[in-house]
Amino acid sequence: LVRFFTPKVLAGQHVLISAGPTFEAIDPVRGLTNLSSGKMGFAIARAAHEAGAHVTLVAGPVSLPTPRGVGRINVKSALNMQKSLHVLSQNATIFISAAAVADWRPAEATDQKIKKDGSGAVPTLAFVENPDILADIASSPRAREHKLYCVGFAAESHDLLAHAQAKRERKGVPLLVGNIGPDTFGQDDNALLLVDEQGATELPRAPKLALARQLVAEIARRLPA
Ligand code: CTP
Ligand code: CA
Repeated sequence: LVRFFTPKVLAGQHVLISAGPTFEAIDPVRGLTNLSSGKMGFAIARAAHEAGAHVTLVAGPVSLPTPRGVGRINVKSALNMQKSLHVLSQNATIFISAAAVADWRPAEATDQKIKKDGSGAVPTLAFVENPDILADIASSPRAREHKLYCVGFAAESHDLLAHAQAKRERKGVPLLVGNIGPDTFGQDDNALLLVDEQGATELPRAPKLALARQLVAEIARRLPA
């Protein structure tokens, strides 16, 4: 019913959304991840579909049902996620980067489980930085030619406005959405700070699906004519 009555502000758009954490393998049984639940990205996928878009969701490891009518691709690591998003962004008109991409991955994942050697010695892990998936897509030809509208997210523990403004510039995206903390991970409610060229506006605390619907409307208003 909601779908029937929602204004189709994204009709004709192909929306690509990343959601959830990534998982960076250390060995076949261990890895590094973060506390993203994926709820916000999944809610945006649902809201974008209600608004008439063709929606593809690239999801890290989360246990959430796929919203009806949404195409889903499951990925694990940041490198997997980057590969999928790179390909899919060639056909998308909007990219919303809601995933909590791990900033680092172990420099090498061993293909055998690391065993204790009995001496009490602990393994030393070396890390390398993961690619900035959003910044790369936001600087691609399609984005620069205004055929792909990119939206970033930011999770900050302090000074949200300043960090979100700086991050928007650094990533080269027209719209950056700050999670107004504390503790949005895994919660059903959130509040968002929308930072664009004009300044900042707040979407007050509400269930994630309600916020996702408002965000979709805000994105639709900002699309190039
Ligand atoms: N992002 C990404 N690839 C990365 C890291 C982040 O695409 N390797 C995206 C996220 O999906 C989000 C935005 O960039 O849309 C900001 O992520 P965030 O973690 O807040 O920023 P970072 O650039 O990683 O900086 P930091 O974590 O140090 O604040
Ligand atoms: Ca980060």
